[in-house]
Amino acid sequence: MKFFIDTANLAEITEAANLGVLDGVTTNPSLMAKEGITGKDRILQHYVDICNIVDGPISAEVISTDFENIILEGEALAQLHPNIIVKVPMIKDGVRAIKYFTEKGIKTNCTLVFSAGQALMAAKAGATYVSPFVGRLDDISTDGIGLIAQIRKIYDNYGYKTQILAASVRHPMHIIQCAEIGSDVITGPLSAMLALLNHPLTDSGLAKFLSDYKKGNG
Ligand code: G3P
Repeated sequence: MKFFIDTANLAEITEAANLGVLDGVTTNPSLMAKEGITGKDRILQHYVDICNIVDGPISAEVISTDFENIILEGEALAQLHPNIIVKVPMIKDGVRAIKYFTEKGIKTNCTLVFSAGQALMAAKAGATYVSPFVGRLDDISTDGIGLIAQIRKIYDNYGYKTQILAASVRHPMHIIQCAEIGSDVITGPLSAMLALLNHPLTDSGLAKFLSDYKKGNG
């Protein structure tokens, strides 16, 4: 399973990349705003900066909602760097644009997916990735992980090549449950990835090994 980090924070992206387990990055307009990245030129440069840190798929989201402008924006984003994935919202014009990009060989990530029907439409349009938002479904008392399982079954039934990119992952159990189901990718904060490392028996075991070594070796 691939690990993408869901942030526009260059320090966190660098830390995750240095860990050696990072496969890509996802961003969205809210994450860019959170880092104070505003203005078209600065936003585009920030995507290039991220591409220069991580050699893997980097999702860059369009802000247009009509077909013609999604195409213009997406083509400009795709020209920034070969690793850019054009992130397009799950709306009617978005699905049409994903089909267009697919035919042009431009990779896409269909975002804001909250149902199996939406995921089916994204796959039929040829999206490279589909992003179901696990945490935001959990937030409204709906089974986010259950949606990942449902999409996995549907895609496997027909051999759709669209990769399931479980998004809005919030904590380590989301990552483990996604891995059990067979999600192709998860994207989440650095904290969720780092939490996978932790176990109290690892900490106490290591402390004992080191103190026993010290006793025998000074
Ligand atoms: O980038 C999309 C998604 O991962 C957002 O997550 O935590 O804002 O629901 P969150």
